Amino acid sequence: MAEAKYVLPLIRRPRRNRKSAAVRAMLSETTLTVKDLVYPVFIMEGENKEEVIPSMPGITRKTVDRLLVELEEVVALGIPAIAPFPAIADSKKDKKATASYDPNGLVQHCVREVKKAFPDLVIMTDVALDPFNSDGHDGIVSETGEILNDETVEVLCRMAVSHAEAGADFVCPSDMMDGRIGAIREALDDAGYESVSIMAYSAKYASAFYGPFRDALASAPKEGDKKTYQMDPANSKEAMVEVQLDIEEGADVVMVKPASAYLDVVYRTAQTFEIPVSTYHVSGEYSMIMAAALNGWIDKDAVMMESLLSFKRAGASFIWTYFAKDAARILQKK
Ligand code: PBG
Repeated sequence: MAEAKYVLPLIRRPRRNRKSAAVRAMLSETTLTVKDLVYPVFIMEGENKEEVIPSMPGITRKTVDRLLVELEEVVALGIPAIAPFPAIADSKKDKKATASYDPNGLVQHCVREVKKAFPDLVIMTDVALDPFNSDGHDGIVSETGEILNDETVEVLCRMAVSHAEAGADFVCPSDMMDGRIGAIREALDDAGYESVSIMAYSAKYASAFYGPFRDALASAPKEGDKKTYQMDPANSKEAMVEVQLDIEEGADVVMVKPASAYLDVVYRTAQTFEIPVSTYHVSGEYSMIMAAALNGWIDKDAVMMESLLSFKRAGASFIWTYFAKDAARILQKK
């Protein structure tokens, strides 16, 4: 019989470092704070309207006036940033997503109103064609069904400049076209918006976890999938290439998306590059936690806080999450 290597009394007893709440708090390696949270919101045209999103319990789509009311609470909770996503009427969609850069469009209007009411709240706008595109893709679709990269980038540049004009703090290209970060940086600078930041969705995977979001905006692709531009979930090295290019092209912050199933990519990005990394706790991740919680199968608050903390531990500088208000309320009590 092999001799036991560690005989009593033990020299190393890691449990000593967990012996009380106070000791655990002192030795905690990761902290989640309200300043780590970005709150994505769904907006729509009109006044004084609000609609439930069946696949996202607790989240609604609302008109900008209603959003302003909700933001009183968001600001009071100390959440530093919001990200508006627009639901656009089918009648305003076309094959070139021209409504995306309308200076009086829904997003541009929303940014102006929010900035007027809450000048210190950071606004991070989504730059991608899907909500405005009659084909439902993030890029322009050719006659033969191809996603046209460079033609799309031109539209993205106009969209980004229109968001900057309205007062956005960050423009956030989520489309995954090649070369869009450099082109958008140049367009912003040419228009005099050197101080508008770019948060690049650099490693955005072709993920089934976006399902409820596409319900919320009725923005699912009409044909095919997004696999020629969003990344293969099998790949991690490829994410490093995407991040590297976006940094070279001028991204201020990069993102890995979704979060839970891609923690290794968040970690690898944070270890490899000296740039802030954010991660998006996407709609499907939100809905899964909510569904299980509503069935009484898990403790929602505990699972939510554990998930958010794990993103910080992996190396995220900040987190986009539909749970922002719920998490902020819990953090406020601590
Ligand atoms: C659109 C966009 C998507 C999300 C953010 N921006 C959907 C998609 O790429 O199909 C997903 C967010 C979520 O699921 O919460 N470019």
